[in-house]
Amino acid sequence: MSTLSTRHLLGIKDLTRADIDLILATAENFKDVINRPIRKVPSLRDVTIANLFFENSTRTRLSFELAEKRLSADVINFSASASSVTKGETLIDTVNNILAMKTDMVVMRHPNAGAAMFLSRHVKANIINAGDGAHEHPTQALLDALSIRQSLGGIEGKKIAIVGDILHSRVALSNIFCLQKLGAEVMVCGPTTLMPKYISSLGVKVEFNLRKALEWCDAANMLRIQLERQDIRYFPSLREYIMQYGLNKEILNSLSKKITIMHPGPINRGVEITSDVADSDQSIILDQVENGVAVRMAVLYLLASRSES
Ligand code: CP
Repeated sequence: MSTLSTRHLLGIKDLTRADIDLILATAENFKDVINRPIRKVPSLRDVTIANLFFENSTRTRLSFELAEKRLSADVINFSASASSVTKGETLIDTVNNILAMKTDMVVMRHPNAGAAMFLSRHVKANIINAGDGAHEHPTQALLDALSIRQSLGGIEGKKIAIVGDILHSRVALSNIFCLQKLGAEVMVCGPTTLMPKYISSLGVKVEFNLRKALEWCDAANMLRIQLERQDIRYFPSLREYIMQYGLNKEILNSLSKKITIMHPGPINRGVEITSDVADSDQSIILDQVENGVAVRMAVLYLLASRSES
């Protein structure tokens, strides 16, 4: 049986092409399972998983919890705002207390880049990064890859544009690593102030004009402006950002070909994307959410299988 090359999922950067192919193939199988009348399998019976969320989340938290329950795992949920973290408890103390309750796997979202890596060096459980600051969001990139493959019929040689706040986006970085490993061409597009200085060194095309990026690509992944991570103003006003980088139906309909529209969520409707685009037949936003459960089932199953072997 094929196995992953790693016992944690900390970032896409650490995965091999074979790892990604295995996760996507396993996710396709689980997608069939969750569309059957009986959607639960016993694969992770007697495995206990802790979901530790030190930062807000809707999609990722619910998707992991559902994936774990579909695999018959025992699940405990932790939100920093309702915990003893507010009384000064450290990350390691918090996690060690949870592990003392015999937890096998930890899914963690944290506002600091590197938090999942730090944890993996200090505890025995399998660690899955559910987003660490502006660093990586590996399961988002995997579900995006699966969604692109299903929409475009493949990834090799396809042109994918990532548009918006590249500087603060863990989704952008994980997508770049994942899509390049799968043979896609990647372009990033956004204001100069929201473009990291190192971005060209990642081998991506850089474009500052939205229309040119959209004309070039087969699929556009529209990112939200992460105001919560912005300590200074990166553009004059939201109105100006919308005029330069907001995707509306008029622009979409004027393109020379039909492109696929993606968004990792949460959407700021009327900012990076208008409602008529988000809800159009070119949008695969809800397919991304559906694929999220299957991809997370695949990651959990493969990491647990590796621990047993
Ligand atoms: N895409 C994503 O990570 O969404 P949440 O912040 O709601 O989990």
